[in-house]
Amino acid sequence: MTDEAPRLIERPTVATVDDDSALAQSTAAAAPVTQTPDAVFESRDVNVYYGSFRAVRDVTFDVPRNQIMALIGPSGCGKSTVLRCYNRMNDLIKAARVTGSISYRGTDLYHERVDPVEVRRRIGMVFQKPNPFPKSIYDNVAYGPRVAGQKKDLDNIVENSLRKAALWEEVNDRLKDSALSLSGGQQQRLCIARAIAVDPDVLLMDEPCSALDPIATARIEDLMQEIKQDYTIMIVTHNMQQAARVSDTTAFFTADTHSENDTRTGILVEVDTTQKIFSNPSDERTENYVTGRFG
Ligand SMILES: Nc1ncnc2c1ncn2[C@@H]1O[C@H](COP(=O)(O)OP(=O)(O)OP(=O)(O)O)[C@@H](O)[C@H]1O
Ligand SMILES: [Mg+2]
Repeated sequence: MTDEAPRLIERPTVATVDDDSALAQSTAAAAPVTQTPDAVFESRDVNVYYGSFRAVRDVTFDVPRNQIMALIGPSGCGKSTVLRCYNRMNDLIKAARVTGSISYRGTDLYHERVDPVEVRRRIGMVFQKPNPFPKSIYDNVAYGPRVAGQKKDLDNIVENSLRKAALWEEVNDRLKDSALSLSGGQQQRLCIARAIAVDPDVLLMDEPCSALDPIATARIEDLMQEIKQDYTIMIVTHNMQQAARVSDTTAFFTADTHSENDTRTGILVEVDTTQKIFSNPSDERTENYVTGRFG
């Protein structure tokens, strides 16, 4: 990984949020902004709609580089929806529409000249349910590099990715076996290896351990700590202990119910260091949630 500015688009046209005084003004009033000089993402007033239903409202926060950020909150408050904004996975949902702005290392992620495929290479995703391809272990990991045109050095890429994902020792003598023959925890680590193999910059993880036992969970948490030197990680989790253990910063979301039509919209309540969120949060709603009084 280098600090070189990403070339997501043919010409780096897009103003950063800081350059846009109107936007800067509008966000100055919004409470939960973290002023992070080293931010990988800066999200400003992000709303996501599914058709006419607004699933999340006015989400504004920064994601610091080379750290782990946890997204927590009750079911349905929009954590997955928000997470999908960061690699434009919502583009693949027909009814979904994203407004506001998200900049990635100073480039507008949603600019018309930004290639979503390149976005998803740089910003990888690991899902709740492991989803290995029905191919060999080797071919799963080699898939992304091959699609990117890589022909040489595949053995090394596969080995390094599997080592980083703490899976190499368990599978190095059966690389040609089907990925579907692995256990759930191994499949999840394989999916992490597959995500790492294309040398991404950011990993988005949506409840990656929810189907795993404590041992497999611990391995993935250790792995996250190891790889955060190279990657920025955003993880959605319902496991409060996990958020407290692994993350540096935590964003707490909840759902606001509109009395007039009884719809629920996700809002960001606060974002802060994980230590503060779990020991002395600013908002009572956060306190109630992290202490288990709600949700
Ligand atoms: N593809 C979709 N089409 C329509 N509505 C959707 C879609 N995905 C999510 N929603 C709605 O958006 C809201 C937020 O859902 P989302 O899945 O982001 O919540 P979540 O916080 O990840 O919940 P959970 O913790 O249960 O995974 C919910 O009301 C949900 O019904
Ligand atoms: Mg979810």
